[in-house]
Amino acid sequence: MTSAVIYFSKSGTTATIAKHIAKELDAPAEGIVRIGGGGVLAFFREIAQSLSGKQPNIQPLSLDISSYDRIIIGTPVWAGRVSSPVTSFLAQYGGGIQSAAAFITHGDVKNPYSEVFEQLQTMLGKKLDATFSVASRDAKSGAYDLSPFLTNLRAE
Ligand SMILES: Cc1cc2nc3c(=O)[nH]c(=O)nc-3n(C[C@H](O)[C@H](O)[C@H](O)COP(=O)(O)O)c2cc1C
Repeated sequence: MTSAVIYFSKSGTTATIAKHIAKELDAPAEGIVRIGGGGVLAFFREIAQSLSGKQPNIQPLSLDISSYDRIIIGTPVWAGRVSSPVTSFLAQYGGGIQSAAAFITHGDVKNPYSEVFEQLQTMLGKKLDATFSVASRDAKSGAYDLSPFLTNLRAE
């Protein structure tokens, strides 16, 4: 089964996990790039977008999403939800995704944000093959274990 990792990362944490997963699976990884969206009000705009489902513009992806058997989607949690650039990605490319797995990073060490996976499944109209949730503190220090997630993916 061929896989590609597609992720958004504002400050590098989700990118770290994305690259780790890609390396383990020997799969390509590509980051979603927003067009615009900076400035001093960025944080508040990001919260508002994630809560409202508003989709920022993103650059076209280099990878051909529909040519992979599985897309592994990575997003930071924003306002308890999928980050808005990943919402844009799913709106534009979701129809070409054959099967999917997902991982999320978040600031709150006590909350695994399982509802974010439910939101992704609703957006995709598909069940996720595997999920992985990690707090940014643990992602940065390397205190996480990807093996159950990878085992689920390799079992398919
Ligand atoms: C706009 C915004 C909203 C966030 N909302 C939450 C949240 O609701 N819960 C949480 O645990 N962390 C929240 N965070 C923290 C990020 O999810 C966390 O730091 C994540 O690992 C960042 O990933 P990145 O470095 O790939 O961008 C938020 C961060 C930003 C920028």
